[in-house]
Amino acid sequence: MHHFYYAEGRLHCEGIDLDRIADEIGTPVYVYSTATFVRHANVLKEAFRGQDVLIAYSVKANGNLAVLATLAAEGCGADVVSGGEMQRALTAGIPASRIVFSGVGKTAAEMKLALEAGIHQFNVESAGELKLLSRVAAGLGLAAPVALRVNPDVAAGGHPNISTGKAGDKFGVPWTEAEALYDEAGRLPGIRVVGVDVHIGSQIGELAPMRAAFEKVVGLALRLRAQGHAITRIDVGGGLGIPYRSSDSPAPPADYAAMIAEATAGHGFEVILEPGRVIAGNAGVLLTTALYEKQAPDRTFLIVDAGMNDLMRPALYGAHHEILPLAEPAANSAYKSYDVVGPICESTDKFATGRDLPEVQPGDRLAFMSAGAYGAVLSSAYNARPLVPEVLVHGDRYSVVRRRPDFEDMIRLEEVPDWIRTKA
Ligand code: LLP
Repeated sequence: MHHFYYAEGRLHCEGIDLDRIADEIGTPVYVYSTATFVRHANVLKEAFRGQDVLIAYSVKANGNLAVLATLAAEGCGADVVSGGEMQRALTAGIPASRIVFSGVGKTAAEMKLALEAGIHQFNVESAGELKLLSRVAAGLGLAAPVALRVNPDVAAGGHPNISTGKAGDKFGVPWTEAEALYDEAGRLPGIRVVGVDVHIGSQIGELAPMRAAFEKVVGLALRLRAQGHAITRIDVGGGLGIPYRSSDSPAPPADYAAMIAEATAGHGFEVILEPGRVIAGNAGVLLTTALYEKQAPDRTFLIVDAGMNDLMRPALYGAHHEILPLAEPAANSAYKSYDVVGPICESTDKFATGRDLPEVQPGDRLAFMSAGAYGAVLSSAYNARPLVPEVLVHGDRYSVVRRRPDFEDMIRLEEVPDWIRTKA
């Protein structure tokens, strides 16, 4: 469910004609819908009525401050994987008491930052990390609230690059070693064991593998309690998929949340969710302008002004994003097959191969749909292209929430050492 639709022949985001944003801000540009973020956060929240739940939005999906502030106002917390993400969350008004810190490679400096801020939970992924966290916390005279991220050895399906819950993945503590590590955690200074954490992958459309993982984890939590650990929290990670194609039908968010509520109910656990894509994915689009059509012997290239530096997902994962013209196609429009490519000097700078689109003329504008998660956050300034700007729509208003850098901004952090003499 999202708030991008055709009205009077033009693609809109809520009450705003997207052409207006393209005119006023230029392309490429990301556009986000406040109503979509809010709706997704609330669908998840509603399934847990009467149960203790923390919706810790996964900042990595879209960490724009305005997006985080929108979700903070809905009562969301944050799942962060770096000191920078934590500072973003805090800056956007998410209290430390609603932040969980995940990730396999936390540094001592990041641990210190998080401990001093008073974050809700560290999701610890290895014995080495546990020992370091113990030293850092004890050194500060603090106790780190810890859940161990366990690897339930469940295949989640989906793209191998984003599957994380099988034995052999780099993530989590192996299932067979988890109880021994909890024992060790229970004895370490500076560590307060509070929960069990799991995350089996991303863009998962089926509930069955998730349910299997969560049931295993609840079983483990109950065994740990019986062994004397004060386990009060179950963190189920993120991972629910979204429909990128109209033919996709991933489990609806309400069913997903209801499944979690059911699988974890009855034991007084605080349930923590770390949704990223399901909240942000369909809340954003990337607008682009067609530059040229180029005919090759066997195909037609459509060269657009967005590149793989602006939206990496097709190049990284072969991901599919629907492409909609901003001008609604007439019912009888002629369709043509295009390879839609960007201006970057890389063969992987390709958004779609053999995509049937209503005929496109140079100057026409298009929207890459479902680009709100893992879009802007993965963008770069490769080929010295300015980092793509971001716009947030709210009803019939919009605001630039990250402006397009000018050339001065782009070179601000660089310096030419004084031993280099340029010839006059
Ligand atoms: N929690 C942890 C520990 C994670 O590693 C992730 C995502 C999430 C939560 C949020 O997962 P979500 O609800 O968004 O599926 N760049 C890739 C996706 C990478 C996901 C990484 N971890 C993509 O564009 O498909």
